[in-house]
Formats: sequence, C-alpha cells, structure tokens
Amino acid sequence: MNKFYITTPIYYVNDKPHLGHAYTTIAADCLARYYRKKIGKDHVQFLTGTDEHGKKNAEAAEKLGLEPQAFVDRQAEIFQKAWANLNISHDIFARTTNPDHYAAVSQFMQKLYDQGDIYEGVYEGLYCVGCEKFLTEKDLVDGLCPDHKRKPELLKEKNYFFRLRHYLPKVQKLIERGDVVIEPDARKKEVMGLFKQQLDDFSVSRENIPWGIPVPWDESQTLYVWVEALQNYLSFAGYGLREDDFKKWWPADLHLMAKDIVKFHAIYWPALLLAAGLEPPKKIFAHGFFTINGQKMSKSLGNAIDPEEMVQEFGIDATRYLLLSQFPFGQDGDIQAGRFVEKYNADLADGLGNLVSRVTSMVQSYLNGQIREKKIKREYDVKKMNKDMEALRFTEVLDAVFRIIAETNKKINDTEPWRKAKEGKEEDVSDILSEAVLRLRDVAEVLAPFMPQTSEIIMTSLSDFNNIQKPPALFLRKP
Ligand code: MSP
Repeated sequence: MNKFYITTPIYYVNDKPHLGHAYTTIAADCLARYYRKKIGKDHVQFLTGTDEHGKKNAEAAEKLGLEPQAFVDRQAEIFQKAWANLNISHDIFARTTNPDHYAAVSQFMQKLYDQGDIYEGVYEGLYCVGCEKFLTEKDLVDGLCPDHKRKPELLKEKNYFFRLRHYLPKVQKLIERGDVVIEPDARKKEVMGLFKQQLDDFSVSRENIPWGIPVPWDESQTLYVWVEALQNYLSFAGYGLREDDFKKWWPADLHLMAKDIVKFHAIYWPALLLAAGLEPPKKIFAHGFFTINGQKMSKSLGNAIDPEEMVQEFGIDATRYLLLSQFPFGQDGDIQAGRFVEKYNADLADGLGNLVSRVTSMVQSYLNGQIREKKIKREYDVKKMNKDMEALRFTEVLDAVFRIIAETNKKINDTEPWRKAKEGKEEDVSDILSEAVLRLRDVAEVLAPFMPQTSEIIMTSLSDFNNIQKPPALFLRKP
C-alpha cells in the first residue's frame, strides 16, 4: 500500500456533534495517524466534514430564524472546534456548501445524465426528513419512523431517477469478489441480503427543497442530499478540478461509518461511481451502534454525552481512550459512562500514569537519570499488533498494551528496585529500570495513534538514555 485515503461520514449539522460522531471520527483519526507513521505523512489523506444541505438542516436553521447559509457556517465551525478539541488530525474538512464541491457534483451528475443513466419519473412515497430518505410502510412502527419518532411525509412529485438496477449486478459482483471489501463480515452478509430484495432505481432529485445544489440541467429541481453528499469523497479529493490530486488519491481506501448508512455506501455509491467510470472504494467498514448506560442515546432521555464535556472532565487522550476501549470496534456495544471514572483511575492514573511516574523518578534518584540500552524481548508481537490495527481491532491492541503496562508495574513491585538500591545493588537496579523504560517506550509507540499527546510526552522524557526526565503527572487520579 503506498497511499491511504480514509474518510468518515460527513455529519449533518442540524445539531451539535455528539458522542456517536466523535466515536467514528476518533477511530478514523487513529488509523490516519497509524498509517502516517507507517507509509509517511504525504501518503495519507484523512477527510471528515459536514453535510450541509437538505431539509433537515434547513428546518433547523428556520427554527432559529437563521438563513441556511449563516446557520451551516456556524454549525460547521462548531464541528471543527469539536474535532480540534479531540486532537483530530484530518487533512480535509469537507463542507458541501463549498463552491468546488458544487462544481464537481454538477460535472458528475451532468455526465450521468448525458449518457442516459438518469431519467425523469414521478415519485410517490413516504419521506422521513430525520433520515433524509424514503421509507416504506414496512419500515414504520405505529405509523412513525422508528429512528426519529416522526410521521413521514407523503410525497408525490417529479424526480429524476438513477438507473441503479442496471448497475446492481456489477456492484454485487464487486462485493462478492472482495474488490469492494465490506467489513465486519456480518455487515457484508446484510448487504448481500439487500441484493436479494427488489432494489429499485432511486431518485436523485427533489422538487421542493430549495436548500441544495440545483440539478444542472433542470434548475427547478435540487439534487437529493444523499447523492450529493456521497460525492464529497470525490470532490474534495480533486475530482474534476485537480486531476493530479485526484489520480493520487482515488479510489478511497476506507470509508468508515456506522451501520446506519451502509446501504448508501455499499450499494448506491459504488453504482454511481461505476456509472461515472470511476473506481469504487476499496473498503467500507461499518462499525456498530452504541447505547449509553444501556439506553439509546437521545436528547429526551438526557443521556447524550457531549464530547466537549467529556474532554473537560478527562482530557483529550483519556476521552479518546475511554471511548475506543469500551467494546470491540465493529460490534454494537454499550458505553458505560458510569464506569468512566473507575476505568480512568485503573488504566490511566494507576496504570500508565503511575508506571511512567515511578519509573522516571527511580531512574533519576537511583541511577542519576541514566539507563542502559539493552536487548529485551518485546512483550508483544509487532506483526500481530499491526495486523490488529489494520483490521480495526482497536480493543485488541489496547488490551495488549495495557497488559504490558500491568505486567511491567507488577514486575517492579516484585523485584523491588528501591530495596535493591538500599542494598547497593546498582547493577540490578539498572537492569530492572532499563527494562521498564524500554517497555514504556514500546507502549508509547503503540499508543501514539490513540493517545498522541501522552505518547509524545513519554517519548520525549525517555528519549535520552543518559538523561531520563520525569514528566508532569499524566493523569491525575479522580475521587
Ligand atoms: N450526513 C449523513 C452521512 C453522509 S456521508 C456521505 C449522516 N450524518 S449523521 O450526522 O447522521 O452521522 C451518521 C454517523 O454518525 C454514523 O454513521 C456514525 O458514524 C455516527 N453515529 C451516530 N450515532 C452513533 C451511535 N449511537 N453509535 C455509533 N455511531 C454513531 O448520516
């Protein structure tokens, strides 16, 4: 692999970022950081951004008495701040109200229209603004959209349709053959199941949604927000505008998201790309949906956790760690917010933080800040760790690292270097502490994508073997 182009979904800006958005974005950030180290900074492109058109955003603006553009400008800034606050290292922040996106999308859609892949028709169906998609009667629970608890609108209007059915067999083959990888496997099975249902051509425009990109050949219509939003992955990689960039980055190596939007990414998106003569993404990974303390995250239940507040309480790196270490990535799981403090104290304050602090203190007091370079057998299998990382098995990686931390702490307790120092056994003390420092450097290296600041502090304080430094406390124990 000589380049890695990774994307998160671009999030709707109708509300502020919540923990679900943060979860995906932190995971993507870890991967981007991992690959930058592996293949070089210039070979990694990490895109996140905001999905700013459509009725959902327009309604939110209206509620506040704001013009849509003013509203989305404000919201996009809030998202950008939230990501800065979590030390997200994206290279691109894609906003769909950017004129370059508009130009690229217009070019893409016009091409499909000119070659006959888009035709005019009438759509009649139930539309949920919360989902920004059409639902069928089967999808409803008590007449309401189960996700948004709102009654879908009945729409009957002229729409333009994309010839999805024509491309379906090709998309199916791509997925079957693994040319487009869908992970985890359960998601792939779900997607394969969708091909067995009757999937219809889908509508790519709307008649009465003024907030969006006009259909290039018929300005009385606006492009359907999803069709346009998917194209952000192309337009911000240079499609139609910066051909050299585009050649370098396309196809995307990984679209990361949760399972809620896998159908759009695994079926509609490759079909649109095939129609445009472009390569489909290499991989789609759809992680699970999480609950908080066993309940669906929702404003009305009052259990929605604001990522910003979490950072205020625990700091950036601890927040990143606490979220990604909760349950295996890819599965549905529960964020046990009630256990954050306990886990923070156990793993970070008493585990990693304490180990760094005691080791560096002892090297300073007993060894004058000096340790010996020595050969140690790594306690983890580097190849396996990399493999786990590349397969997005974050909890495996974190578990392995925290096992090393616990074992190193235990070894120090068992060998009691403080006692050996008193007895004047300097060789032994040097042996024990040199090994601990080297272990800590390994730990810091593997943790770097997850906890970049912490890792950097540890690495800096342990970089000079003749002058090991004691850093300020990394994690203060919480009451
Ligand atoms: N705007 C579309 C995506 C367009 S991409 C071309 C959209 N936006 S969204 O704001 O609703 O974000 C959905 C994504 O947020 C999910 O796919 C997932 O990445 C994240 N999550 C939202 N809630 C979540 C959970 N409760 N659990 C895990 N991830 C969650 O859909």
